[in-house]
Amino acid sequence: MKILLLTHAFNSLTQRLHIELREKGHEVSVEFDINDATTIEAVGLFQPDLIVAPFLKRAIPEQVWKKQCCLIVHPGIKGDRGPSALDWAILQDQPSWGVTVLQANAEMDAGDIWATSQFPMRNASKASLYRNEITEAAVEAVLLTVERYQRGDYEPEPLDYHDPGTLGRLQPQMTQADRKIDWLKDNTETVMRKIRCADGFPGVLDSWNGREFYLYDARPEYSLSGAPGELIARSGNAVCRATLDGAVWIGHLREKQGKHPFKLPAVQVLGESAEPVPETAGGYQEIEYLEQGDVGYLCFPFYNGAMGTEQCNALRQAYIGARQRETRVIVLMGGADFWSNGLHLNLIEAAESPADESWANINAINDLAREIICTDSHVTVSALQGNAGAGGVFLARCSDYVWARSGVVLNPHYKDMGNLYGSEYWTYLLPKRVGAQQARQIIEARLPMGTREAKSLGLVDDFFATTQETFRTELNQRLKQLASATDFSAQLNRKREQRAADEAEKPLPAYREEELARMNLNFYGFDPSYHVARYNFVYKVPKSRTPITIARHRDKRRRANIQKVL
Ligand code: COA
Repeated sequence: MKILLLTHAFNSLTQRLHIELREKGHEVSVEFDINDATTIEAVGLFQPDLIVAPFLKRAIPEQVWKKQCCLIVHPGIKGDRGPSALDWAILQDQPSWGVTVLQANAEMDAGDIWATSQFPMRNASKASLYRNEITEAAVEAVLLTVERYQRGDYEPEPLDYHDPGTLGRLQPQMTQADRKIDWLKDNTETVMRKIRCADGFPGVLDSWNGREFYLYDARPEYSLSGAPGELIARSGNAVCRATLDGAVWIGHLREKQGKHPFKLPAVQVLGESAEPVPETAGGYQEIEYLEQGDVGYLCFPFYNGAMGTEQCNALRQAYIGARQRETRVIVLMGGADFWSNGLHLNLIEAAESPADESWANINAINDLAREIICTDSHVTVSALQGNAGAGGVFLARCSDYVWARSGVVLNPHYKDMGNLYGSEYWTYLLPKRVGAQQARQIIEARLPMGTREAKSLGLVDDFFATTQETFRTELNQRLKQLASATDFSAQLNRKREQRAADEAEKPLPAYREEELARMNLNFYGFDPSYHVARYNFVYKVPKSRTPITIARHRDKRRRANIQKVL
């Protein structure tokens, strides 16, 4: 079938549906919901059999839904309606939640129900639930709906609040007043829920010392305490604020009225105001090393997968430390939500010289990449629990093995960031794994890739399990096997020989030098595209049109070919 994904943005859920529907053999095109006229035009150009709306902020034009079946993916259980579905579910501490696929009609979220899928709730941020449980449930419900629609014999169920199975209700848009933290009355659990139900967007608005901030990236702390609401500690880039019965660490802040009104590490935003607060070592750790038998686990759950210069340097030190241990395998775990998204674009944007900071950041990430590539004492594994993008994908490929959770989405390309050339030794790693021609195709295609395709190309070596929990269980078993393999020494020897042969053919510094020469032009050259694209990304400037790479119906060359065939 021809399926049009009508969406506010090409976010992680839309990318995942794009992958899944194409894998099922459907022809998929994407249109951003910019205004009614563009949507109507897109429908006219593509003539879809079905329209699926995974992430919309406005109603679909009547002219479209009256003629064509339009399916809305609502992040709520049957009967739930309104724009703050998941926010309310977290704030109200619902034990389970779900996703419902319903047909668009004149009333928002009140159309006939095609499918619904449920999951148990987890103590996590809204963004984390969205990227994991909501995405998996949405894929299940959308694929079932598409199958039902294609079969042609399924009658969608009208919304009926008298049905005891309809537990959801119409809920209003959540306001800052609903989210407001009362530091004198709220305990740690309540504060955590209030922050999490707004993290990634919009954030809970809070104030301290006459300044207003949105709060993100919170972790509970039960061993510290103080006067409720006071800043009582600092750890790395996070600050700790006392609650009635403990405290919470806050890793990121956004100061709307500040010089840099986007998400940044809390200590950087607070500046001098955070200085008198005592440092608590290990209170909020961004990097953690654990050992189990012969396996060393390096976890680096950086917020949003962004890796700044300092973080890359700290991770490199931790990696070198892991390599000095008498283990056999090192596994790079990334974080639960993202493995890595490469350069820290927000920190770069906030730097005095974004060009210099970009240069420092790419060199720091390259230094880390080189250590992984040149490791001859251990077998290395990148374990992708969550998505990876741009430089993050190639950093993962530095390891001997890349194992991913099924359903992880990879974006192995840089060009969307203002034609960025990219580094991380990708010109060495990618052709070696996938061949020169495929390497070029992947980089140029600028499309998200699922684990099945990534494995068929050699970008990942294997994928398994769909939930975080089952992935980690199977991962541990596989790592144990890898570390105890009878041919372990032979494997290490082969790896050393291969590296030596590669080095003899073309030394690693030569790849780096060539890549950095191109990056230097991106950062310091006449063409400002990278700086403009980064600004737009960080400031979330809405897109004025859908990129041709995903809006297939707007690709003139493709349309001309179809007309020729007809
Ligand atoms: N630096 C800083 N923030 C980043 C980031 C980066 N490299 N990559 C993602 N983020 C942030 C986003 O701004 C967003 O912030 P929010 O919490 O305020 O909404 C959040 O992470 C999630 O990103 P989003 O784009 O919504 O996730 P996605 O899963 O839909 O898309 C990517 C994933 C990787 C396609 C997309 O985030 C991207 O293009 N990132 C930039 C990658 C890049 O060009 N890196 C630099 C070159 S190495």
